[in-house]
Formats: sequence, C-alpha cells, structure tokens
Amino acid sequence: MSGKRILLIVGGGIAAYKACELIRLIRKAGMAVRCVLTDGGSQFITPMTLAALSEQPVHTSLWDLKNEAEMGHIRLSREADLVVVCPATADLMAKMANGISDSLATTLLLATDKPVMAVPAMNVRMWQHAATQRNVQRLRDDGVIVLDPDQGAMACGEYGPGRLPEPEAIMRAILAQFDGGHAAAAPRADLPLAGRHVLVTAGPTHEPIDPVRYIANRSSGKQGYAIAGALAMLGARVTLVSGPVTLSTPVGVTRVDVESAREMAAAVDAALPADAAVMVAAVADWRTDSAAATKIKKTGDGVPPTLSLAENPDILATLCRSDKRPGLVIGFAAETNDVIAHAEAKRLRKGPDWIIANDVSGDVMGGDRNSVHIVTAAGVESWDDQPKDVVAMKIAERIAAALAS
Ligand code: CTP
Repeated sequence: MSGKRILLIVGGGIAAYKACELIRLIRKAGMAVRCVLTDGGSQFITPMTLAALSEQPVHTSLWDLKNEAEMGHIRLSREADLVVVCPATADLMAKMANGISDSLATTLLLATDKPVMAVPAMNVRMWQHAATQRNVQRLRDDGVIVLDPDQGAMACGEYGPGRLPEPEAIMRAILAQFDGGHAAAAPRADLPLAGRHVLVTAGPTHEPIDPVRYIANRSSGKQGYAIAGALAMLGARVTLVSGPVTLSTPVGVTRVDVESAREMAAAVDAALPADAAVMVAAVADWRTDSAAATKIKKTGDGVPPTLSLAENPDILATLCRSDKRPGLVIGFAAETNDVIAHAEAKRLRKGPDWIIANDVSGDVMGGDRNSVHIVTAAGVESWDDQPKDVVAMKIAERIAAALAS
C-alpha cells in the first residue's frame, strides 16, 4: 500500500474538518496525499492546516501561474493513483455529473484518468432530493465510486442520511481500491463468488402511521449487513436492499435504501435476476391500511385513535413463487420459542431452500452476537453463539459451496 498517492479534493461543508483525520489515516497507511481545496472548502478549513498535515503544497486556484509552471493541472490530476472527493457536496457532485469544469477541483475531476471516489456529506433533504439522487446515479454509471453517507444527527439539527462516513470507514474504502478489493473496478476472478450476483435484504421496515409516526421493529440490520459484506469479500456482486438503519455500507456492496415493506418488495423485484437471495430483513407484517396525510392530533376527549392494519406482502414467499426465483433462496426466522419447529414450518410454507433461524428472545436484535440453526431439507445444523461477522462469513462460504455444486 505504501507509495500510493491520493489526490484529496476537499469540498465546502462542515464535514471538511474530518478531511484532517482522513489525511492522518492515509499517511499512517504509508500513502502520500496532496490536497486541493475548493473555495467553499476554504470557508471551513485553511490551506495551511491541510499543507501541515499532508506536508505537501495545497492547490486552490486554476489560475495560479506559479503552480501551472511547476505542475500543470492535467499532471496534478493524473499523478495520483486515486482521486478522493471528501466531503463531496451536492454542488460538487452536480458539477461532476454534468462535466462542468469551472474551478481547479472540477477541472481536475474532468481531466483525470484515474479512479475517482466521492464521499458525500450534506443535509438530509439535499441528499434525498431527486436531483442529487439522479446525479449520484449518473456518477455511479460513469464509474465513480460514490460511498453512501451515514445516517444520524446532523450539524444542521436534522436527522437522517447525509453525514460524512467516519474517516476509518472512508479509509477502508480507499484501501479496498488498492488490495484488489471489491469496490475496485476489476473484480477478482479467483474468488469463490466471482461472477455471481447475490441479493440481500436487511434491517427493519418502517410503516407510516402519519407524516411523523411509524410502526417499526428492533432490527439493527447488523447481521444482514455483515452477510452482504462477507459475500462481497468472497467476490460476489451484492445488491443490499436495506430498511432504515444507521450502518455504513460494506465495501463493494451496492445499497438500495427503502422504508416500507412495499418499497422493499419493489426494490427486490427490480434487483433480479440473482444467483442467490438472502432475506435477512425483519419486514413488518402489517402496515396501517391508510397512512394519514397530516399529523393525527389528540381529540381532547381522552379517546385514542384506532389503527386499522393491513397485511404486508410476504417478500420471501413471493420471491420463492416467482418465475425469477434465484437458484438458492435463504430466509431468516426470528423466533422467541420453539425456534426449530417454527423455522421448519416457515421453510415449508414460504418455500426457501434454507431457513436460518435465530432465537430473538434475548438481545440478538441490536446485539453483536448470534446463535443460529440452519434448517434445510437435509436437516438442522446448529451453530454455537458467535459474533455476527463470523456467522456472516460462514453463511457466505456455505452459499459459495452451494452455488458451486
Ligand atoms: N419476510 C418477508 N416478507 C414479510 C415478512 C417476512 O420477506 N412480509 C421474510 C423475512 O425477511 C425472513 C422470513 O420472511 O426471511 C421470516 O420472517 P419472520 O418475520 O420470522 O416471519 P413471519 O412471516 O413474520 O412469521 P411469523 O410472524 O409468523 O413468525
């Protein structure tokens, strides 16, 4: 890894300060980093700080003739092994998606022939806006690696996706570019799941009651995310259809965010065909039969409103009956009692090849460990309690073996 060169373009957002920590991590990994600071970025951080941390000159202007004589912008854009835009603002990504080159940063991004990674950070509404989502999709189609932002409280006081991922997570994505990682353009053909597409669902679903309330469950998404990451590590192309969670997207995984069960069902259908599907999501069984368009108010007479529920589609059962059914379908079963008996009944009722059953009467939901039973037509195999990451890799290896046979 050492000797690799990163060109870091620091955009204008409060998250610019996290670029300092990223520079430290890049250098700790033995790589060199040269920074370009946009006008917006310089509202939050000074060139002097970036120069001190990177021990390299910092570039800010396209019209800096001295630098042009020493290092032209074309050379600057090509000298690096990877260009990282962090934070990538909505404005910068819009310009990148449209090929606008009106500053040093955007000119470099247009002129480079090296892989480009964008790490978005912005207000939740800006991230969710159709224009930004369109630009992100366009960039991904153009081959830019766009990381998913984290979800959480924002500097602006709102909550949701849009936070810059932690510098450690960004660093892992950078490292993955250089070690033949799965986010890299060229997938490794020697890995056991190379050339396979695996669909994973994870997390809870949120079923709206009114614009501010919803029905949900305690799923954290950890087990599903770990499985998606493990499958990618084994070389699979992974589509992760995720309900609302606060986890970063595993390296090399394509994530599709949904909220409700019906949105999840549509995203699963859109992601097909797949060689295998692992349905880990804790889909809400019921939704309100019609969500109120405005906030439900207390009436003052002490009588609570009655929620009338409708059953959600069963995504797993629908998939198993579909003519697009993947060759291997795996369901999960969250049970609090008679775990194996319920799981076997579920397998026969819904039609997956395997059910991975877990006892959720303890703190499995949200916890870091899991003890599972693999229920198949051939019988039941029970695994000891172990970290969710280990369970995930063992499941991924088992999937690879099943697809190979
Ligand atoms: N599942 C699904 N769509 C639903 C409900 C569940 O695809 N509407 C999937 C889950 O992703 C999981 C499996 O079905 O792979 C079993 O989920 P679980 O919640 O344990 O089963 P339920 O169908 O809810 O059964 P029950 O409530 O009777 O335990």
